[in-house]
This record gives sequence, structure tokens and C-alpha cells, in this order.
Amino acid sequence: MTAYKPGEVILTRGQIEARAAEIGRQITADYAGREVFLIGILTGCVMWMAEVMKSIDLDTSVDFMSVSSYGSATRSSGVVKIIKDLNQDIDGKHALIVEDIVDSGVTLDYLCKYLEGRGPASLKICAMLDKPSGRRTPIDADYVGFEAPNVFLVGYGLDANQKYRNLPFIAAVEKV
Ligand code: IMP
Ligand code: MG
Repeated sequence: MTAYKPGEVILTRGQIEARAAEIGRQITADYAGREVFLIGILTGCVMWMAEVMKSIDLDTSVDFMSVSSYGSATRSSGVVKIIKDLNQDIDGKHALIVEDIVDSGVTLDYLCKYLEGRGPASLKICAMLDKPSGRRTPIDADYVGFEAPNVFLVGYGLDANQKYRNLPFIAAVEKV
């Protein structure tokens, strides 16, 4: 298996936290008077979701799903499998998917179709990073933290072979 290590820092903790707070406030304004149902996509969502929801000033409920789409460390297999479904009902709720990164778009395209079929009042996407250059399925996130360069990234929830999710910044990986 190829080994990777974090290289150049692309986004600092301060930059990510400031942007997450901005997006949390934007969500608060956009959903004013409504309850929001946050759906975190494990595991990559953890740090970003925690940061964004601290700045959401609305009645908020939180749930998680786990899906797998990656066959290898850095290339999408294109096949999405649900490992863990929602615990709560989505029916009639204003659902907001919180994801680490939109790359090919295959994962979110599949998830949106799956969740739309279960009758939410609305369904939107909040992604920490968007890699438009990787897109294979046309899908747009409604809230995007940052546009990412077309390199593999780790940190702030993002992993390479399950490592580096705990780094409090986002870095490009280098092959060891
Ligand atoms: P997509 O289905 O190709 O859009 O892939 C989405 C998923 O791939 C994300 O939720 C991540 O788990 C993973 N992914 C895509 N790009 C990166 C990256 O640069 N670093 C770490 N994980 C990534
Ligand atoms: Mg992920």
C-alpha cells in the first residue's frame, strides 16, 4: 500500500474556523424561522460540522450517515454503499447534508437521490471543500467553505488510509 504524509499546508485552522463561522451565520439567516436537520457524512465531516454548527442559531437536530465510495486511498470507485443510515426520520424536515469534500460528486449525487426519495421539506448541501476539477457528476453544494486544488488533501477530517483526520489544518499529501 502506498504511504502518504502531510506536505504543504493549504488552509490553516484560523482560516477554516473563520469560514465555518461565516457559513453557520449564513445558514442561520437562510433558514430563519425553521428548524434545520443536519446530516453529517461520517467520518470526514466531524471537524467541519462541529465548527459550522457552533454558529448556527436555530432549532437544530443532528444525525449521521456513513457511506463508502472509495475503493483505494485516493481514487473513487464510483460505487456508493450505505454503511450506516439515519437514526431519525427525514420526512418533512429541512435537511442539510454536511460533507467534507465534493470531488467526483458521485457520493453526493447518490445520497441526494436516496434522501430526496424519503420526503424532506428541503435538501441542501454544505461542504467544507469543493474540487470542481474532479467532477464526474454535475452536482453543486449550496454552501462551500473553500475551492480546493486538484491534489489529494488530508486533515480537518480528511484522511489518507484513515490517518491524519485529526490534523487541525488541511495539507496536501506527499507520497513517502
Ligand atoms: P466523491 O464521491 O468523488 O465526490 O468523493 C467524496 C468523498 O471522497 C469525500 O467525502 C472524501 O471522503 C473523499 N475524498 C475526495 N477527495 C479527497 C481528498 O483530497 N482527501 C481525502 N478524501 C477525499
Ligand atoms: Mg467522506
